[in-house]
Amino acid sequence: MLPFHRVAADDFAAVNQRILDQLHSDVPLVENIGHYLVEAGGKRLRPLLVLLCARAAGYSGRDHIDLAAIIEFIHTATLLHDDVVDTSERRRGRLTANAKWGNAPAVLVGDFLYSRAFQMMVALQDMDIMAILSETTNTIAEGEVQQLVNAGDPAVSEENYLTVIHKKTGALFEAACETAAVLAQCAPAERTALKLYGRHLGLAFQLVDDALDYRGNAEELGKNVGDDLAEGKPTLPLIHAMANGTAGQAALVRGAIEQRSAERLEEIVAAIESCGSLDYTMDRARAAVDEAREQLAFLPEGEHKTALQQLASFAIERSV
Ligand code: IPE
Ligand code: IPE
Ligand code: MG
Ligand code: MG
Ligand code: MG
Repeated sequence: MLPFHRVAADDFAAVNQRILDQLHSDVPLVENIGHYLVEAGGKRLRPLLVLLCARAAGYSGRDHIDLAAIIEFIHTATLLHDDVVDTSERRRGRLTANAKWGNAPAVLVGDFLYSRAFQMMVALQDMDIMAILSETTNTIAEGEVQQLVNAGDPAVSEENYLTVIHKKTGALFEAACETAAVLAQCAPAERTALKLYGRHLGLAFQLVDDALDYRGNAEELGKNVGDDLAEGKPTLPLIHAMANGTAGQAALVRGAIEQRSAERLEEIVAAIESCGSLDYTMDRARAAVDEAREQLAFLPEGEHKTALQQLASFAIERSV
């Protein structure tokens, strides 16, 4: 548990229980894979955002528990699909579901979790929340498809990259915060502020994730590093190095993206370090976190607001 989880510890126990209850299926393979992933933990940042935003905005009901579980189910479904698409073998310190059971079960259980999230959403009976989350899941899928199209293409622009990370990652952070604001019946300006907090935080989170794919510690992260290069993903560290490195460095990076090969990972890490590309990526993330934190100004001082501020800082400092 991270320090800022503590404020919501009681609510979190209820969320975890809800998640376990809702994993139920008559088909044992569904439960096996579901429990395997859920029990491995994960940082639970998105459900925490729901709990903190709802409470910070003055919500006193119980629907935030279900909403948090719904958001974590959607996240878990995207991870199941993501690891198939990225041919990744480690997640949360374990083999990925696709590495352990194969692609078909991983995709299908991902579908199960997605649709279970929608069943739970219908039970909340809130059209605004349904509208936000149906839009969000569509946006995530679109971002993943755009990223697939971009793979192997070294000409992808920084703007295109930023659109992809907003869609694939920022959108769910944004939805977690905005739906919590809906529960809390926030005024429109406040709802927008929380939504933007989530959006900028999510952008920062993915920028850091993309930096960590080159300089992170696989043991701590619980997933392999270097996967992005092996998939030929033109992420910001590489885009920056191609634009700012020597002709030789640019050619090295371009070649690796085109060939979708991590064979020269060490040289590429040296090149992006010497171009300041990881620092540049982290600076962009820091700026996004600053923007996120500014959105919290309207909230009353208190432990929930403080935790939201700490969560924003964690997005930058994290090594997990
Ligand atoms: C991983 O998200 C996917 C990205 C958006 C980078 P997290 O790093 O939040 O994954 P868990 O839930 O903690 O495992
Ligand atoms: C995650 O992006 C985006 C989604 C889960 C939709 P990544 O592919 O970079 O996430 P990791 O690094 O595998 O966790
Ligand atoms: Mg991945
Ligand atoms: Mg991916
Ligand atoms: Mg990644």
